[in-house]
Amino acid sequence: MPAYLKMGSIPRKRHIAMRAEPGYRNEGIYYEEVVTTAGFGRAYSIAYHLRPPTRVRKVEAAGTFRIDLAEVPALRHHHLKSGAMKPQGDPITGRVPLMLNADVALLRCRPAQPQAELYRNAAADEILFVHKGQGTLSTMFGVLPFKPFDYIVIPHCTTYRLDYDGATQLDLLVVESSNNVTLPPRYLNPDGQIRLGAPYSERDFHGPREPLVVDREQDVTVLIKDGTRLTRYTLAQHPFDVVGWDGFVYPYTFNADDFEPITGTIHQPPPIHQTFEATGYVLCTFAPRMLDTHPEAIKVPYAHSNVQADEVLYYVRGKFGSRRGVEEASFTLHPRGIPHGPHPGTIVASRQVTRTDELAVMVDTVRPLALTRRATDLDDPNYPYSWLE
Ligand SMILES: [Fe+2]
Repeated sequence: MPAYLKMGSIPRKRHIAMRAEPGYRNEGIYYEEVVTTAGFGRAYSIAYHLRPPTRVRKVEAAGTFRIDLAEVPALRHHHLKSGAMKPQGDPITGRVPLMLNADVALLRCRPAQPQAELYRNAAADEILFVHKGQGTLSTMFGVLPFKPFDYIVIPHCTTYRLDYDGATQLDLLVVESSNNVTLPPRYLNPDGQIRLGAPYSERDFHGPREPLVVDREQDVTVLIKDGTRLTRYTLAQHPFDVVGWDGFVYPYTFNADDFEPITGTIHQPPPIHQTFEATGYVLCTFAPRMLDTHPEAIKVPYAHSNVQADEVLYYVRGKFGSRRGVEEASFTLHPRGIPHGPHPGTIVASRQVTRTDELAVMVDTVRPLALTRRATDLDDPNYPYSWLE
């Protein structure tokens, strides 16, 4: 969780009357909403609304979020090229699921049109990695600008609208996380602050910049997703009617170019790239960095067999030193149980190289990932043989 943040006006103590004149129905107060995580056991925020946030006019079934799983009869490596996927839908409806298990789902989204209605993921934290595009995320916590290579972390149950500048095609990698997205506990000191020596600090995390008080008594629809079930709620007012809030739960951004890489004289293992963690997976950022400085260093990774982990890399920018044939927006999936490693020629080719400009996002999962049919449509069947000379 990022640091404590406070915005707008809030009362001196929790759960005492915050006076508003005349207030909704002349009741003379703002209406508190506490947003908690893990029941009441972990981080929370408290927001103050113009009207009670519970005023629902209509609840309707809105269909199912379709996931067509593929039959994958053989255990093998995969290379999916997602760079040419056609734009479709909006920032919510245009999402294409590619890989998933019970803890995490990876989707791609290249929307063709603006977001049609407000959206709320009731069953997952979302990490939206902005490959291309810029804009703002509006929530009851305020307005949060985003730009290329930002991770936008959106906690469970945050109703939002994603607006993007039309000049650039918005291009997102969406990570749906059934469990809470946190910073790795080893990066925190016993006082809860990010340690000196961690690959980022509190200054690299950005919450909403300005409050957003939409005072509108009118019907507003919100599309709610919990798992694959979609429900449309019609609220009797706009939900972004918050005059102030404080706490540890809010959407925030962290830019991959602010990741401070840790390097050594010889190859450092993947955990030094770790950026986020949640039960069931870790997310790492392979950021531009100096390569290993030992005169005899092998500057690409070991060949390795993933034991008890499926490893996904999403290639964002630059040339990836240990891989041949991958391109921008490629995914590789190296599942558990079979070895993979640097491609032929890359060890020798890296000898004289002193730094890498690669940027990639890695997701390592505890449970095996299933592929969807949309994913296998993008797959290169010859990738398992790409280590032959
Ligand atoms: Fe690997």
